[in-house]
Amino acid sequence: MAEPNLNPGEARAPGPTYQEAILRDASAPPAAFLEHSYEFMGDHDIPYVNYTSKEFLQAEFDKLWPRVWQMACREEHIPEPGDYHVYDIGTLSAIVVRNSDGAIKAFRNACMHRGTALRDPESSGFCQSFKCPFHGWEYDLNGKLVHLPEDWDFPHASADTHSLRPVRVDTWGGFVFINFDDDAEPLEAFLGVLPEHFKDFRIEDRYIETHVSKRLPVNWKAAEEAFMEAYHVKETHAGGADYSEPITTYDVFGDNVNRFIHTVGAPNPRRPEPYTEQELLEALWGRRGPNDADQCPQLPEGMTARDFYAKFVQQQLGEAYDQDFSSYSTALTLDSIEYFLFPNLFVFPGLSLPMVYRFRPDPNDPDYSTFDLYFLRPKHPQKEPPPPPEPLHLSVEESYTAAEGLSWLGPVYDQDTDNMAAQTRGFKACARGAQTLGNYQEVRVRHVHKRVKDYLDG
Ligand code: FES
Ligand SMILES: [Fe+2]
Repeated sequence: MAEPNLNPGEARAPGPTYQEAILRDASAPPAAFLEHSYEFMGDHDIPYVNYTSKEFLQAEFDKLWPRVWQMACREEHIPEPGDYHVYDIGTLSAIVVRNSDGAIKAFRNACMHRGTALRDPESSGFCQSFKCPFHGWEYDLNGKLVHLPEDWDFPHASADTHSLRPVRVDTWGGFVFINFDDDAEPLEAFLGVLPEHFKDFRIEDRYIETHVSKRLPVNWKAAEEAFMEAYHVKETHAGGADYSEPITTYDVFGDNVNRFIHTVGAPNPRRPEPYTEQELLEALWGRRGPNDADQCPQLPEGMTARDFYAKFVQQQLGEAYDQDFSSYSTALTLDSIEYFLFPNLFVFPGLSLPMVYRFRPDPNDPDYSTFDLYFLRPKHPQKEPPPPPEPLHLSVEESYTAAEGLSWLGPVYDQDTDNMAAQTRGFKACARGAQTLGNYQEVRVRHVHKRVKDYLDG
C-alpha cells in the first residue's frame, strides 16, 4: 500500500530512480535523460466512452485533427522535385510535394473545380503537375492553377481564385509535418522541448529501414497508451523473467511532449536476492544476444553487465551497418527511450531500439486504428541509404512476425495487440464504465486524455 505520508503522485518504485541508475554507467548519459519532469495531474477515472463512442470520435475529427501538427512522411519520401506523398486523417487529405526549387509544399487533396481528389489515399509518386482525372484542371507543384480546359466557360475562375488550398507544412528531425489550421502555432512552438532534447541524436540523419502498417483492433488512444508505460511489461511480455525489471522515468514536458525511458540490462532492484552482474550478463546474452548462454564471456573485473553488453551491441550493430557506434553512451545504446509528441507520434532516438510510431483513428469505427511502425537506422556518413521501403500492410489478424525487420520484437508487438482486442471488448463489458490510472506510471495516459479534452473543449 502507498506510504501514508506522501502526497498522491509522490510515491516511486523501490530502488533507484532511472536518473540514479544511469549515473552508475561508465559513460555519461545524454543530459536530457537526467531531467525529470513529473507533476500530479489528478487521479479521477477516465470514462470508456472516450474510446468507444462514435460521437467522441467525430468530435475529435471536428476539433482535434484539423488543428494539430501531424507527421505526414519523412523527407526521404520526397527527395526530388515532383515527388509527392498523400497523408490522410479521417476525411482530411493533404498532398505533400517537393517543388522545383526543392521546397516542401502541401495542399488539400481536392480539385478546385468539382472537388475530385487529385491523388489516391496514402499514395506517393512523382509528377510534373497535378492534373485532375475528371475534367483535366491542372495545378503546378506550387498548387497554382496552370491549365483550365475550355476556360471560355469559366470567366469566374482563375489562378487567383482556384489554385489549390495550401496546408501548413514544416519539418523537424527529417519528419515532414502538416497542419490543416492556418492559425495554428508554428511547429517549433508545438514541439516544445523536442528539438533541444534531440539536438545530439541526429534523427534527421536516419533512414527508414522497415515500415509496417498494421490495422489495430482498438481505439487510437488506447493503441498509443499500450506503449506509454512499462507497467505492463512484466505481465504481458516477460513471461515471469525478473532478471532485469526495468527502472523507468515518466515525464511530461509542457503541452505536447511526454516520455518514458526504461533501463535495459540494469539489475532488478525489486528482486529479493539480486543477481550477480555475471548472472545478469548471461540472462542478457541468452535473451537478446547470440542466444547461447554457454558462450557468454566472463565479465571483466569491475565492469557492469550493462556497460559490457552495451559495448557488445555497439560492435554488433557497427558490423551490421558498417559504422562506428562506440561513442554512444550505455543509456543511448541500450535503453528504451520513447518520446511522444501529441497527438500521435512516438520517436525513439536510441541505438538498439530505433522505432518511430504513428497512430491514426479509423475514420468510421472508434474500435479500430492504423499503426505505422518504422525502424530508423543511422545513415552511413559516406554511403547513400536505400530508398524508403514500401510499407508492409498487416490486417488485424496478421502477425508482426511476418515483418522480418522487426526480429525479436515481432512477437512482443503481437502480445500488445492481443491486449488491445481484449481491452476493446472489456471497455463495453465493464460495469464501472471508466478506467483507473496509476499516478506515476500511467501519467502519460492521463496527459493524452487531458490534451484531447483541451481540443474538444475548444
Ligand atoms: S473536378 Fe477536377 S477538373 Fe473537374
Ligand atoms: Fe508492450
